[in-house]
Amino acid sequence: MTVTTRRVKTGCEGLDEITRGGLLEGSATLVEGSAGTGKSTLALQFIMQGVKEGEHGIVFTFEQYPEQYYDCANELGWDLRSLQNEGKLQIIFTTPEEFLDEIDDPEGKLAKIVAERNTKRMVLDSITHFEKLSKDIGHLRSIETEIVNGVKREGMTAIFLKENSNVLGKWDVSMNKIPFIVDTYILLRYLEMESEIKRCMMVLKMRGSDHDKDIREYKIEKGGLQVGEKFTGVSGIFLGTGIQVRPAKAVR
Ligand SMILES: Nc1ncnc2c1ncn2[C@@H]1O[C@H](COP(=O)(O)OP(=O)(O)OP(=O)(O)O)[C@@H](O)[C@H]1O
Ligand SMILES: [Mg+2]
Repeated sequence: MTVTTRRVKTGCEGLDEITRGGLLEGSATLVEGSAGTGKSTLALQFIMQGVKEGEHGIVFTFEQYPEQYYDCANELGWDLRSLQNEGKLQIIFTTPEEFLDEIDDPEGKLAKIVAERNTKRMVLDSITHFEKLSKDIGHLRSIETEIVNGVKREGMTAIFLKENSNVLGKWDVSMNKIPFIVDTYILLRYLEMESEIKRCMMVLKMRGSDHDKDIREYKIEKGGLQVGEKFTGVSGIFLGTGIQVRPAKAVR
């Protein structure tokens, strides 16, 4: 399956604006952010947009507590259990090892679900869990490439989540090779400004499309991430500490 120019709306209006209409169909996107920045929320927003459009979505999660996963989604206004019972989406709690077995097998369980349901959207929450499978950077990269290629083979538009253990300040990205493998790379970051922690979103790369280079503030509310205007008059955001260099415009 190749990446087409058809756009897949993410359900996050601001992100669709930044990406000039949404993700490219069949593409792989990495969303990287520190703990609590809203990675899972954005990913579920993308799956819920699929539900709205009648497109089946599948979430693989390696979190150990299904109850907590469903409860967090409930807080955001999404009853995943009911939607799952209605066959509109599927949440699969599994292990990295099992997932790899499945993605490797073009006739396995995953391929079967995708074929039966005509699954269009997939989320992996999170790809960070695969890091425990190998300490060798080269081997890890081949595992990650296998995952991205496997998902593309199934023809889905995919979002991979990646945890970053740095909260503020410079990010340690020495082990981070996935951005090179994926088509689109989105960062969710905390920003310290005037004794307040804000959240900001930026798209760093998007193969096959232009995108806005703005760094935008967002808030998490019922329904997901609400993206505002770009920060103006601030510098140093990329380092996690914004310094006001001229008066800011109000965030809508
Ligand atoms: N209904 C809500 N209203 C406002 N904020 C909310 C709501 N539900 C969740 N949040 C915020 O979302 C944050 C967590 O979002 P989410 O679980 O998507 O983050 P994450 O990046 O996936 O976190 P982790 O790294 O722990 O997996 C919470 O810390 C909380 O601040
Ligand atoms: Mg999460």
